Amino acid sequence: MSDLAGTNVIITGAGRGIGAACAKAFAQAGAQVLCADLNDPVETVAGITDAGGIAQGMVCDVSDESSVLALFRKAETLGPLHATVNCAGIIHERPLLETPVEEFDRVIAVNLRGSFLIGREAIRAMHGQPSQSGQPARLIMIASDLSYYGRETFSPYVASKHGVLGLVRSWAKEFAPDILINALCPGPIDTAMLAAANMTPEWREKELAIPMGRFGQPEEIAQMALFLAGPNAAYITGQGIGVNGGSIMP
Ligand SMILES: NC(=O)c1ccc[n+]([C@@H]2O[C@H](COP(=O)([O-])OP(=O)(O)OC[C@H]3O[C@@H](n4cnc5c(N)ncnc54)[C@H](O)[C@@H]3O)[C@@H](O)[C@H]2O)c1
Repeated sequence: MSDLAGTNVIITGAGRGIGAACAKAFAQAGAQVLCADLNDPVETVAGITDAGGIAQGMVCDVSDESSVLALFRKAETLGPLHATVNCAGIIHERPLLETPVEEFDRVIAVNLRGSFLIGREAIRAMHGQPSQSGQPARLIMIASDLSYYGRETFSPYVASKHGVLGLVRSWAKEFAPDILINALCPGPIDTAMLAAANMTPEWREKELAIPMGRFGQPEEIAQMALFLAGPNAAYITGQGIGVNGGSIMP
């Protein structure tokens, strides 16, 4: 148990990867976790409850406004909300000249519109409410090291992640000191998303040229999310926090 004992937290994209690791870490820290994902996050919820934690699962499409509103209606029934961590996202790789606009629209819908909808409703829920933990509420958006630089054949994804940083920087100013709002910017993390990206041996070798010489683990991102939600991060807002093995140094 920790300083998050008794708090309520929403984690999106909680079905697997970084979101599942965040849900488990927050539950271990004593939070009651509402796990949301496009696919019912039953395994994540079972893993938490089997370990003695408190979690509930819900199907939610972050790109769909009515689905996001339903998620926050469900959260309301749990009591005041201390933190929301938005991990839902999709990757997309294709050379620009072969990219149909429908694919661009889908990446933007999930990664950027989804961030807007989750962020707006999280802020609506947490703004001006009595603090559950004696601390300002927290909004943590999973962005990317691609929020800072470009990558050939990934332009819709890169644009969406640049956009997430723009939302965070603007909202942090609009809602300080009530809510602390940060982007967590992972480098390459060993998840199904990374495996799905069309990783040529050359690309993998380039990635492994990062100073730490390895991909990160989802649990290493979860630990930073936990820190950003806790009392020791009370003076951090509007930042993009890199957890990337030194791969970029913006
Ligand atoms: N893995 C990496 O190397 C890496 C690096 C930088 C940033 N990120 C970001 O971290 C986040 C999590 O990535 P991951 O590696 O865990 O990916 P992942 O593919 O393993 O997990 C993503 C989860 O999001 C869910 N999801 C997808 N679309 C959704 C939607 N419309 N609504 C709700 N849930 C949806 C999926 O079902 C899945 O459970 C993403 O935003 C990703 O862009 C990942």
